[in-house]
Amino acid sequence: MKTEIPLSSPDISDLERELVMQVLDSGRLSIGPMVERFEQMVAQRVGTRHAVAVSSGTAGLQVILAGLGIGPGDEVVTTPFSFIASSNVIVHAGATPVFVDVCPTSLNMDPKLVEAAITPRTRAILAVEALGSPTHMDALARLAAKHEIPLIEDSCEALGTTHRGRGCGSFGRAGVFGFYPNKQITTGEGGMVVTDDERLADACRSLRNQGRATDRAGTANNKVGAWLEHERFGFNFRLSELAAALGVAQMTRLDELIERRQHVASAYIARLSGIRELVLPTVDPDTFMSWFVFVVRLSTDYIGEERDRVIQGLRMHEVGSAAYFPCIHLQKPYREKYGFREGMFPVAESAGRRALALPFFAKLGEREVDLVAQTLELMIRREDISRG
Ligand SMILES: Cc1ncc(COP(=O)(O)O)c(C=O)c1O
Repeated sequence: MKTEIPLSSPDISDLERELVMQVLDSGRLSIGPMVERFEQMVAQRVGTRHAVAVSSGTAGLQVILAGLGIGPGDEVVTTPFSFIASSNVIVHAGATPVFVDVCPTSLNMDPKLVEAAITPRTRAILAVEALGSPTHMDALARLAAKHEIPLIEDSCEALGTTHRGRGCGSFGRAGVFGFYPNKQITTGEGGMVVTDDERLADACRSLRNQGRATDRAGTANNKVGAWLEHERFGFNFRLSELAAALGVAQMTRLDELIERRQHVASAYIARLSGIRELVLPTVDPDTFMSWFVFVVRLSTDYIGEERDRVIQGLRMHEVGSAAYFPCIHLQKPYREKYGFREGMFPVAESAGRRALALPFFAKLGEREVDLVAQTLELMIRREDISRG
């Protein structure tokens, strides 16, 4: 019998099944009322005037960059400590990612370094709420305003988190959420752009829909032939009605899901604190945390292969684990295209070498948390022994 504890697992209830069936029975599988309902729910929750559903978090970032007209010759200041998509979209836009190092605690970009990296060619700051942490977003928003450039907030990992009462996704000119199955809520694949900027929202609606002129409902206007008239170079980044039905159900359950995830995070913290080889995640007092993953770091004594051996050991014991995140600038295409190498962003690199994600999802039980913690402790002790 398989006893593996996976790294993540979606939480699907009867409500999701019911709403998906409703869409199937309606016969309207794309561009319909479920997408609009999902958009309204997210906008209301985050506190923005507009929300535009798209087919993934990556697609959301792409339509924002395109909507802001960012392209060749432009620089976008961003973080090397993230999932690779946050930088790939800059490269795909034809612009240049300018990396700056992160703060050792929050693992988000250090605002001082961001300011130092701004040049006359900087067209945006693309900030990521790494592992769901909103630290420095308010400072980065002020910095962007001072330099009259937009802050693009990659909130793919931060749905439901608030900082001083303000929702992640609402700090920048536009924010993006991702709904891959490991996220706080899932639509299978999917994403959502949120913004107060009506022109940008309209541009994103058009860009997701092949560059069609769109009304606020996301459908083509009523003019004869309008469906095959295109105003700009767009994409097909539409979210299906089926995916939106999942989204509506998951948004309805968001508070319940956040609460369960908080419970799991607290159980991990209680169980793992006191292990001196581990650095546990911390939440600053002004933040209400909607946990995305549970990532621990080995202490700075362990900068070699130890972390990878611990991950392998956990997996051998059927406990899911992964390295979160290998730095973007050290990934092959970035090394090859831009000549990045080790040592350029030491804080991000050190975190990237020592961090590992543990199984984390709403239904993870305390017994499983205990088993994961025991196995992790065992793997760490094994490292100590093999070091002598
Ligand atoms: C920080 C960050 N940005 C962007 C993305 C891309 O989202 P998606 O996988 O929905 O395209 C992710 C998803 O994992 C992410 O974590």
